[in-house]
Amino acid sequence: MSEQPTELEVLLDAEAIGRRVRELAAQISADYRGRPLRLVGILKGAWMFLADLIRYLDLEEVSVDFLGVASYGRSTKSSGEAKITKDLDQSIEGLDVLIVEDILDTGETFEYLQDILSARQPKSLKAVVLLDKPARRTRPARADYVGFTIPDHFVVGYGLDYAEKYRQLPDVRVLRTVVGRS
Ligand code: PRP
Repeated sequence: MSEQPTELEVLLDAEAIGRRVRELAAQISADYRGRPLRLVGILKGAWMFLADLIRYLDLEEVSVDFLGVASYGRSTKSSGEAKITKDLDQSIEGLDVLIVEDILDTGETFEYLQDILSARQPKSLKAVVLLDKPARRTRPARADYVGFTIPDHFVVGYGLDYAEKYRQLPDVRVLRTVVGRS
């Protein structure tokens, strides 16, 4: 299959992301003051967001674990079927748990995460997402903390990929296929 020519346009620059991540960290720190917090980063997309968020959390006890989740047959459209590619290393039973996700799109992955993690009986379960794309929601999913609400564009960068490309970009960009260019 030949590669389609693509174009990238910055939607959220690194500075805006950094400011918003610090605001989210301040809000989360206030809400969890005096309580140990377990962050559960969802791989792969959330690793960059988690790495930035955690360094601004003003909390005495923060621990981290990662859960790998992938959807089958994902291109620029979600296919809606999730599966675990890497399970948590540690139990979350009785803990205050905060899911860290890069994007809430159709909400299908989010619903799946809520189901499998709440079954493990944490003391509390909340979620922070960097990006929320409500226009594509097929499930009634709602995050407790949202970085940015964005329009229905396919976005890459800051951990998000298209076919495993662009995760390393320091900003969030809209990926467009360029039609009619040879
Ligand atoms: C992305 C993202 C969310 C999910 C959101 O993961 O990280 O987990 O899609 O989409 P949804 O709300 O429509 O379910 P992806 O499956 O692309 O894996 P990745 O994080 O490894 O890139």
